[in-house]
Amino acid sequence: MNNNFFISPSILAANFANLGEEIRKVIDAGADIIHFDAMDNHYVPNLSIGPIVLKSIRKDGIIIPIEVHLMAKPIDELVVSFIKTKANCIIFHPESTKNVNFLLKLIRKNNCKAGLAFTLTTSLNYLKNKNIVKNLDIVLIMSVSPGFSGQKFQKSAIKRLKIARKLIDDSGYNILIGIDGGVNDDNIYDVAYAGADIFVIGSSIFSKNNYFKTIKNMKKKIKSAKINILKNL
Ligand code: DX5
Ligand code: ZN
Repeated sequence: MNNNFFISPSILAANFANLGEEIRKVIDAGADIIHFDAMDNHYVPNLSIGPIVLKSIRKDGIIIPIEVHLMAKPIDELVVSFIKTKANCIIFHPESTKNVNFLLKLIRKNNCKAGLAFTLTTSLNYLKNKNIVKNLDIVLIMSVSPGFSGQKFQKSAIKRLKIARKLIDDSGYNILIGIDGGVNDDNIYDVAYAGADIFVIGSSIFSKNNYFKTIKNMKKKIKSAKINILKNL
C-alpha cells in the first residue's frame, strides 16, 4: 500500500473556453496530475478532446503530468499520437483492444506510464494475470459509467476498489490505483480508506468557486483516512 496520494482534476468538467487558465488554476490550487478524458462518440456516447488539445496544452508551457484516459475504439493509432504529444501516462480500457499487452509495453517503452481502466462491470480478473500486471503502472477503477462528468458515484466501486487494492498488494508490483467518477467531499474519505492512491475529480472541483479550498479540504479527508488505515492495520 502506498502512502502518497495524488489529486487529478478531470478537465472534462472545466470551462473549455478557458482551458489553459483552468489548468493553471487547479495546479496553483494543489493538483498533482491533470486527468485528460479522450472520448470518440463510438466507444462511449460522448465526444471530447484529442491529441491536438494536449499538444496545445504543452505548447502553452504547462508541464504538470498529464494522464490520458482513452475511451475510444480503435485505440492503437491514438496511443501513438498521445505518446508523441507528451502524455505522461496513458490509460485505456482492456475491452477496447485485442492488443492489451502489446499496447502496455509500447506505452512503457516510450517513457510513459501505462494503465488499464475498469468500468463498473469489467472483470477484475485481469489483475490476476501476471503477464498483464507486470506491465502496469496504474489501475483506474471507475465509479460511474464512462462518458460524462457529473454522474453519481456508484457505491459498488468501493468494494471493487478494495478487491483491486488486495490484488495489487499481493502482486508485489508497484502499481497505483486511481478512482474515477462522482468523487466528492462526501465520499472521498471512504474512497481513500478503500485504498485509492489517485483521486480523479471533475465536477466537484470545477463547479466550485474556490479550487484551492476545495482541494485542501479533500486532501485533509484523504490524509485522515490514510492515518486511520495505518492505525487499524
Ligand atoms: C467519465 C470520466 C471521468 C469524469 C469525472 O467518463 O472518465 O474522468 O470526467 O468527472 P466527475 O468527477 O464529475 O464524475
Ligand atoms: Zn476519466
